[in-house]
Amino acid sequence: MLSPRNIGVMSSPDGVGEVVGPICGDQFSMYLQIKGGRIAKASFTTHGCWAAIAMGSLLTELIEGLSIREALFLDGEMLARESAGLPEDKWPCARMVSMALHQAVADWQRRSGAG
Ligand code: FES
Repeated sequence: MLSPRNIGVMSSPDGVGEVVGPICGDQFSMYLQIKGGRIAKASFTTHGCWAAIAMGSLLTELIEGLSIREALFLDGEMLARESAGLPEDKWPCARMVSMALHQAVADWQRRSGAG
C-alpha cells in the first residue's frame, strides 16, 4: 500500500484498543472518536508489518460513519476478504487489527458506561 490512511495517535480519543499479535509479537493500537453511537473518526499506529498497516488503513476507512454494531460485525476474516489479495499467511495480521477495534469499542463502553 503506497499511501496508507489514518495513521497516527489521536488526541482525546473516546476509545483505545491495544493489541500484541499472538504469533508475531507486533503491536497495533486503534483510536476511536464516537459520536451518537457512530464512529466519527478512527486512526491507528503499529510496529507491525505491511499487512497490519494495509489492514489498519482499510479498516479505519471502512468503519468511519458506521454504527458501533455495524463496525463490530467486521472481523479479521471479513477484513482479509475485503482486501481481495491479502495472502493467507497475513490473515493473523488482519485478525489483530480487528481485535484492536473490538478492544477500542470495549474501552469506549467502559469509559462512557454505554453497553
Ligand atoms: Fe506481525 Fe503482520 S503484524 S507479522
